[in-house]
Amino acid sequence: MDDLKKYHETNKDRYLNELLAWLRIPSISADQKFKGDVEKAANYLADQFKTLGMDNVKIYPTKGHPIVYAEKSVSPDVPTVLVYGHYDVQPPDPLDLWSSPPFEPVIRDGKIFARGSCDDKGQVYMHVKALEAMMQNHSLPCNVKFMVEGEEEVGSNNLEIFCKEYKEMLDCDVILISDTSMISNDVPSITTGLRGLSYVEVEVTGPNKDLHSGVYGGAVANPVNVLCSMIDSLKDGNNHITIPGFYDQVELVSTEERASMNSAPFNEQAYKEELGIQAVMGESGYTTLERTTIRPTLDVNGIWGGYTGEGAKTVLPSKAHAKISMRLVPNQDPDEITRLFTAHFKSIAPAGVTVKVQAHHGGYPVVIPVDSIEYLAARQAMEKTFGKTPIPQRGGGSIPIVALFEKVLGVKSILLGFGLDSDDIHSPDEHFGLFNFYKGIETIPYFYQYYAQMKRDAPV
Ligand code: BES
Ligand code: MN
Ligand code: MN
Repeated sequence: MDDLKKYHETNKDRYLNELLAWLRIPSISADQKFKGDVEKAANYLADQFKTLGMDNVKIYPTKGHPIVYAEKSVSPDVPTVLVYGHYDVQPPDPLDLWSSPPFEPVIRDGKIFARGSCDDKGQVYMHVKALEAMMQNHSLPCNVKFMVEGEEEVGSNNLEIFCKEYKEMLDCDVILISDTSMISNDVPSITTGLRGLSYVEVEVTGPNKDLHSGVYGGAVANPVNVLCSMIDSLKDGNNHITIPGFYDQVELVSTEERASMNSAPFNEQAYKEELGIQAVMGESGYTTLERTTIRPTLDVNGIWGGYTGEGAKTVLPSKAHAKISMRLVPNQDPDEITRLFTAHFKSIAPAGVTVKVQAHHGGYPVVIPVDSIEYLAARQAMEKTFGKTPIPQRGGGSIPIVALFEKVLGVKSILLGFGLDSDDIHSPDEHFGLFNFYKGIETIPYFYQYYAQMKRDAPV
């Protein structure tokens, strides 16, 4: 591994400049205006794979954005690692809250500021450069496949179809993903769980047109008022979700696991200060760490209706809308939760309005076992480069495709993320530490090495 160290040292500036060039391409999957840029970002990655000398480099078109695939086989006797990631990014809005333009990456305070720097181009690129170093030094211990998609941020719908169609090509022993975070740069951790998701959009309609709020106000249901009370009623005084049946399948976590979870270093005071809040708020009876990992949630992501322009307009609007997400935990089923939500939300609508509920994408939660060879290899790799044993920690976010990988390909994933929760992914000023970028590049080859070793030594 000394050779690799030297190689990284000589090439680290180039690694970074290549990533910056990739970050300059605004691969926003949610917005059709950027379809060409999404494609450019796919081409950029495919070109990198070709330059590295990877085999079967191919851009697979889908009904949406393309999937980039590449592989390198070294021997039928060593295990195969499939690296998954996404090159699409979230829209950068609101633009005026960025300190520098989202697609003109800059380094400030040892961090790369750009949309996608952490989620997930920066983390995918660690894998590309780790692979380059191993290939250049003839020290690739595993067969490798890369599958990098352009639709993670919009639900990965076409990736599911792709996985079913190319099941054989994607055959592997483990899926390696860097698209999550660690506790801190001093406290490495490995993500052992992801929450599922049910995402709905609701529309409340009152009168058949906007009305004068003086002439009609007081006598006709105002859909914005009604929507607000309906949403308010979805949680009780203990911040417990009131949808009947919502918690029925929720797996109760043992007292021991909760205790070990809560022993992870977490400073609530610092957490509040960083977010500029006086107090945390959540479901009674659970800590902040529990509320963001083992408990389901319901949040309004956006709400609109009526007049929101400059000045005042006296209007009683005809319609009100909201986008609502529910984060799910084992063993909640996203389709079932969407059904329960829809039935309940319609049932609580007062006479005088009608309600429509539209389901967006969803996803199943996952739990990653900590006694598998791949987990032990990941743990040892981090231990090697951080000098500390990483802590297993469930994450609060969602990567819906992970549960599908298990279902469709029958393969488990390892979530070896190098970001931080404070990296502002999906927010203005998203960033990724140079420390984290280079630490990832340094750690990944150890995962390959330990994984191959442990697989070889494992009793069959
Ligand atoms: N990389 C994130 C998920 C994530 C972030 C997991 C941090 C754990 C820690 C991913 O790109 C993402 O944003 N997922 C979406 C879901 C998707 C269906 C839009 C999410 O969690 O909101
Ligand atoms: Mn991501
Ligand atoms: Mn994301």
